Amino acid sequence: MSSHLDISTLFNPRSVAVIGASSDPAKIGSRIVHNIVSGGFMGRVYPVNPKGGTLAGIPFSRKMEDIDGPVDVAVIAVPAPGVLGAVKDCCGKGVRHALIITSGFSEVGNRTEEAAITLHARKHGMRVLGPNIFGVYSAAASLNATFGPSKIRRGSVAIVSQSGALGLAMIGKTMMENIGLSAIVSVGNKADLNEVELLEYLVEDPNTEVILLYMEGIRDGPTLVKTLSRVARSKPVIAIKSGRSRRGAMAAASHTGSLAGADEVFDAIMRQCGVIRAESIGEAFDLCRTFASVPIAPGGPLLIITNGGGIGVLSADACEKHGLPLFDDTAVLGEAFAGVTPDFGSTRNPIDITGGATPRDYDVALETALKIPGVGGVLALYCETAVFDSKALAGILKKHSSLYYQAGKPVAFSALGGESTERTIEELRKARIPVFSDVYSAVFCLSALDRHFNERKRPLPGTPEPVVGLEVINRICEKALKKERFFLLADENAEVLRTAGIRCPPAGISTSIGEAVHLAEGMGYPVALKVISKDVIHKSDAGGVVLTLENRNEVMDAHEAIMRNVTTHQPEAVIRGIEVVKMAPSGLEMIVAARRDPVFGPTIMIGLGGI
Ligand code: COA
Repeated sequence: MSSHLDISTLFNPRSVAVIGASSDPAKIGSRIVHNIVSGGFMGRVYPVNPKGGTLAGIPFSRKMEDIDGPVDVAVIAVPAPGVLGAVKDCCGKGVRHALIITSGFSEVGNRTEEAAITLHARKHGMRVLGPNIFGVYSAAASLNATFGPSKIRRGSVAIVSQSGALGLAMIGKTMMENIGLSAIVSVGNKADLNEVELLEYLVEDPNTEVILLYMEGIRDGPTLVKTLSRVARSKPVIAIKSGRSRRGAMAAASHTGSLAGADEVFDAIMRQCGVIRAESIGEAFDLCRTFASVPIAPGGPLLIITNGGGIGVLSADACEKHGLPLFDDTAVLGEAFAGVTPDFGSTRNPIDITGGATPRDYDVALETALKIPGVGGVLALYCETAVFDSKALAGILKKHSSLYYQAGKPVAFSALGGESTERTIEELRKARIPVFSDVYSAVFCLSALDRHFNERKRPLPGTPEPVVGLEVINRICEKALKKERFFLLADENAEVLRTAGIRCPPAGISTSIGEAVHLAEGMGYPVALKVISKDVIHKSDAGGVVLTLENRNEVMDAHEAIMRNVTTHQPEAVIRGIEVVKMAPSGLEMIVAARRDPVFGPTIMIGLGGI
């Protein structure tokens, strides 16, 4: 395990060597040198090529050992057969971190070579990122050691991507979408360093305010869960995980060679860790934009201001879908907005200032909303109209977002219209103001903000209490397993539950009608009768259950009926007896299940039960 200090060298190196740089500028290694130099890296750069030559005015070192001075990070971009040798050279030079760009390892089944690389690096205390990566960008060191775009927008979003091509594409896309990055890291095959260590660094990194993870497979589920639970309580973490569908999971496994795990388990775990899951890159970017600018505040009921009834209704629907409460003190709203809203508008939330609303009306409405104490956040909606030039919108939204942020109150905007509106949206995004062209996205992001705030207050889950009577429970299960029976019979189940401290209604097993009546009289009516047989798992289907028996005659009839039904339904079934159970008062039926997830370990499922 690396310490935080160790990993920080990866993001703040004093010197970087690039093994596989070439005089041919089109080579990946050359591209990386070009990006490091043009990105304004403040440390030293050493291109390495056995043939010698120069690149970007820097003479090549023929061998690592020729480099005069220490090397913190080495980028390896030579064909796969030469990587182990390059790794050895790096270890010899005392390199702290090697970034292995080269593909052709475990992702294509070449595990032995990858393991040899990791083993050698570990022995010499060198950490490896990759292989099969596009590199690292770190705003802290102005280091663009990637073979992606040379221009990267600086900002506060850190991206950790398991997919190389997608990560590279995201760099370009963040530039277009005006999202600034504090770091972007490609983890590839995760032979050594993985998300856990990167998260440990990013949570402490003062430049990073938001963390975006793109994951395909997870190696060490329990450690990731522990780390995420802690990290997501201090910085918003957004996760995109592919492989939701069966086909997607298969594609992911062949892409990076890692196991995806059951998606529903992943989904539930992310929620429990306080991580926000995005369904798409677009959604993830919307969330990044919001978290990077809107204050994370106590939130509370939302107030919607709109000049269009339709989008007002849509946004109210979206609030309900995402569980975001609406501010509903109609008396307060009526008084506050009477002057801004015409008679044919509405002072009920959503406040409809109508299609005739002017820039000034928006200005006043936003100012009014900010002053209402119970309002936790505001969503202002705009539909382009002839009486309100979209250009005027930019000024108003800039002014109010700054006032709202100062007051620590979340505000988001949604604008819908033609060319002029789209231009305004772009202008505002450049100014780091979250404007959405879709009300659903706006509400989704505000609800994520609210969830994240609440998440921060939630205490970390404690250590689970030891299971009561574990030995007794294990003994019951082992006894069944010895008989090659993979389920428990009613009486065994009851004993397990009782041992674990879960109350069960009184019950007993009868082997004759007389015994059944005796048991029923003892516990009092009404009772239920259920067949006990290792051959009958679905008792109701075999006619093996009769409920609500009120007296001895009904018990006798039911007993006979069960014996008849079961022997007709399953003549070969061995019947051990009939269970007599006191009827429980009606309540909520539940199902509880447990399974060992291959990635995350023991998981439990709880849900509504019944037939
Ligand atoms: N030390 C230093 N230089 C070495 C070397 C070594 N051990 N072995 C080879 N070189 C030199 C080569 O001679 C060449 O320089 P030259 O042009 O002066 O001859 C340079 O390094 C590059 O080697 P080359 O054989 O031309 O390979 P390449 O640049 O075509 O491809 C990779 C190398 C790493 C890019 C390629 O193997 C690869 O893995 N590509 C996929 C990368 C990828 O997609 N990664 C996933 C992230 S999205």
